[in-house]
Amino acid sequence: MIGTGSIGRRLTFLLAGVAALLSVLSWWMVSGLAREAAERTQDNVLAASATAIAETLRSEQGEVRLELPYSAFSMLGAISEDRVFYRVMAGQDLLTGYAGLPALSDPPSPGQVAFDTGEFSGEPIRMASVSRLVLAGTQPVPVTVTVAQTRNGVGAISADLSQLAALLAVAFFIIAAVLSAFAARTSLRPLNEIAAAVSRRGPSDLRPLKRDAPAELAPLMSSLNRLMDRLGQSIRRSEDFIAEAAHRVRTPLATVRTQAEIALRSIDNETEKQRLRAIIRAVDESSRSAGQLLDHAAVTYRADDLDRVPIDLSDLLSHTAAALEPTAAMKDITLQLETSHVRVEGDPVLLDNAFRNVLDNAIKYSPEDTNVHMRITSTADEALIIVTDEGPGLGDGPVQELTERFRRGSTAKGIVGSGLGLTIVEDVLSAHGGRVELASRQGGRGACITLVLPLP
Ligand SMILES: Nc1ncnc2c1ncn2[C@@H]1O[C@H](COP(=O)(O)OP(=O)(O)OP(=O)(O)O)[C@@H](O)[C@H]1O
Ligand SMILES: [Mg+2]
Repeated sequence: MIGTGSIGRRLTFLLAGVAALLSVLSWWMVSGLAREAAERTQDNVLAASATAIAETLRSEQGEVRLELPYSAFSMLGAISEDRVFYRVMAGQDLLTGYAGLPALSDPPSPGQVAFDTGEFSGEPIRMASVSRLVLAGTQPVPVTVTVAQTRNGVGAISADLSQLAALLAVAFFIIAAVLSAFAARTSLRPLNEIAAAVSRRGPSDLRPLKRDAPAELAPLMSSLNRLMDRLGQSIRRSEDFIAEAAHRVRTPLATVRTQAEIALRSIDNETEKQRLRAIIRAVDESSRSAGQLLDHAAVTYRADDLDRVPIDLSDLLSHTAAALEPTAAMKDITLQLETSHVRVEGDPVLLDNAFRNVLDNAIKYSPEDTNVHMRITSTADEALIIVTDEGPGLGDGPVQELTERFRRGSTAKGIVGSGLGLTIVEDVLSAHGGRVELASRQGGRGACITLVLPLP
């Protein structure tokens, strides 16, 4: 696409961007939760272990005694390979364990469990502390059992889970990106279909677009249709105008010509005769131009909305040739028609107009007492109408340019014409999906015009 880039790509990037954001967010949340779950498990086991030790506390002859139950440490070993430390304090005195374990910032009140993190022998540790009042002699002594464990296991578990979450997030992102591209393409499909429908049309097809479009495209469709409608109207108006103008010009021209011819007969002065002949010639040129303009407008108008009927080409061509027979006879030109029955579908009025222009050229540009040959043949999928004459050929210029509007060739010198004949022929043929091929015959003796029409 041109200009500001592709909507599809932009939509894909936008959706994929949102998916990437969600992926990172979900990874972050899952990692956090995994870490918290691992920490909580460790806390629970530490608390259970400290409680199990605290339960063995008793007082014996005024002294606090305890047994370290094996189970209290084995449960810690079950969750990871981390090192375990403990400490039992009776009041301020160390009963057993590691004196160097850091004190809890928030010591537990009796019957409660308190947790803290700290550092021991250069490693981070998690500690759980339980406090109990034990009667030693007459005084109850607060005994604090602290169990600590390094945190490598927790780190490893949460790193594992975080990695898994990252993998899942990447997979989620890839799926979401593919789906985004798919969604972008699907939602743009109606737009592409409309564009394709418009570009498939012929240059003069201004019918409104009739297709189901999503609600968002309805305004585009209706403004496109309104534009085409306005364009169609303005084209029709200018065609009507040309037709009307040509008609209005031709009538008075005919009067001028008649008057000039009468005057020509009644005078003897050679210079004045010359002048009158020049006037008649100019009138003929103008009249021909007006006629061709009229035909051209009609062709453009009808080509917009071609009515296609089955046509036998040889019937139509012989009909056109018969109409031109008198003109040919004036120059002793023989029209030869070599027919074969080829049927096409098309507008007979337009095709007759095209044939008339090609034959008119062949007769007009050929010298007297020659032949104009017409042949109809067909290939597998095309019908060919080949018109050859024995005139001067198409001249030295580029032949394909002769179909341009008002273009006259080097052979046209001194011959009345407007340069619209081959334009009309080409318009008619292309409206039918065909084409014109212009060529001079070998050795420059005559022109060979081939009209190609698709077979139905
Ligand atoms: N059979 C032909 N032999 C020689 N020259 C031709 C022939 N057909 C066309 N041409 C050349 O091609 C030019 C364009 O032809 P076209 O029919 O478009 O215009 P025109 O004959 O000059 O005018 P008009 O609109 O009156 O037909 C002509 O001016 C002429 O030079
Ligand atoms: Mg012509």
